[in-house]
Amino acid sequence: MNTNETQRQYEYMEKAKGYVKAKSEELGRPLTYCVTTFGCQMNARDSEKLTGILEEIGYVAAEDEKADFVIYNTCTVRENANLRVYGRLGVLHGYKKKNPNMTIALCGCMMQEPEVVEKLKKSYRFVDIIFGTHNIFKFAELIVRNFEEKGMVIDIWKDTQEIVEDLPIERKYSFKSGVNIMFGCNNFCSYCIVPYVRGRERSRNPEDIIAEIKKLVADGVVEVMLLGQNVNSYGKNLENPMTFAQLLQEIEKIEGLERIRFMTSHPKDLSDELIEAMANSKKICKHLHLPLQSGSSQILKVMNRRYDKEKYLALVEKIKKAIPDIGLTTDIIVGFPGETEEDFLETMDVVKKVRYDSAFTFIYSKRTGTPAAAMENQIPEDVVKDRFDRLLKEVQTISQEMTARFEGTVQEVLVEDINDHNADLVTGRMSNNHLVHFPGDASMIGKIVKVHLDECKGFYYIGSIVEE
Ligand code: 5AD
Ligand code: SF4
Repeated sequence: MNTNETQRQYEYMEKAKGYVKAKSEELGRPLTYCVTTFGCQMNARDSEKLTGILEEIGYVAAEDEKADFVIYNTCTVRENANLRVYGRLGVLHGYKKKNPNMTIALCGCMMQEPEVVEKLKKSYRFVDIIFGTHNIFKFAELIVRNFEEKGMVIDIWKDTQEIVEDLPIERKYSFKSGVNIMFGCNNFCSYCIVPYVRGRERSRNPEDIIAEIKKLVADGVVEVMLLGQNVNSYGKNLENPMTFAQLLQEIEKIEGLERIRFMTSHPKDLSDELIEAMANSKKICKHLHLPLQSGSSQILKVMNRRYDKEKYLALVEKIKKAIPDIGLTTDIIVGFPGETEEDFLETMDVVKKVRYDSAFTFIYSKRTGTPAAAMENQIPEDVVKDRFDRLLKEVQTISQEMTARFEGTVQEVLVEDINDHNADLVTGRMSNNHLVHFPGDASMIGKIVKVHLDECKGFYYIGSIVEE
């Protein structure tokens, strides 16, 4: 751990605080901020770190992006995400013309792509601060530079070994939290840009992870989501190597912690030890996100996934046998270069055999710099769209049937929020990640309660609380 760097950043926070205070006195009002997150849970957690620093230096939360400091934490896993950022930057430019004090910052995966930064430098001169995924701990320092220097502040690192601990974090939820256990990815699936923008795999020290979770629990957190691109390879590069299952067993011992989730598992690294740890645990949730990507062994090979259809199906069988109530979810890509109708039918076959509780389906998106982008026989759009629609229909039908399998049972549910559409209902999550809506009020948020699942309504349940 780099404590010197932590201290340096706190010094920058002090300095930034001074600038924010002076500016707000000059304007006669507080300065406001808005953090917008694109992409995955990893980004959501990073955004809590950005928010923590903005709060620390004296900005106050704004309702929308008409704020004095707007930051986009970007994603680049599919091209759509990039296009959305450019579109929204146009809108921000309009706001900035009306508010000359506005600062616009961009960070996250998209900024790790050199072409993106070139484009921003050329055509988006109104952006003030640009940084990447490896140096978000320097956020306060970059804010200070923006106060002191003219022109765009740009700081992108290609990779890093550094993990800076103990900086401020502002959690979105009081009762649950993401916890990074590792950063980066070494797998180089041939379609995926993540290894290029998030760098090589680095695991956090178990002591730091445990200390962070204990602190979270003392602060009211009952559920943690352990985050990594490939949690199953946790600990391999530590000074004292340790497996993910061992880490889970250590976390399980933390008193007051009630639920442990994790994401994402790579099928090639999922060990028997982990299955056993899950089956024997009282706290590890009965949910596994196990990205399939394709059901065709041939396509899986070209994707560089390092498992085939048979191995994946055998793994699922083993998991279901050991943990019968498990909720299985997945990611599937349609239209990978060279995918034939037969390959696609193999994917449909796996979907029918596994019967996922839910599946995220994606249309293959060509990412510059990845091996797949250079492959010939990219699939025509209309063929991909047709396969995508067929797949979506199948996964939705199965998802509804799978969700319904717990109807009439009583389940433990962690209450997360007041229902979006009906203020007399609360919304909670079962261990297997299914959603339940039932009568309740705000005082129940963050508590685990027993709920009777009265009726399955497709992808969720309507329930009623069971009096103890
Ligand atoms: N095109 C489409 N989907 C992709 N994913 C990753 N890269 C691509 C791509 N180039 C999907 C994978 C991964 C999820 C997070 O995003 O399914 O599991
Ligand atoms: Fe991308 Fe594969 Fe790494 Fe997941 S495991 S982030 S799909 S390279």
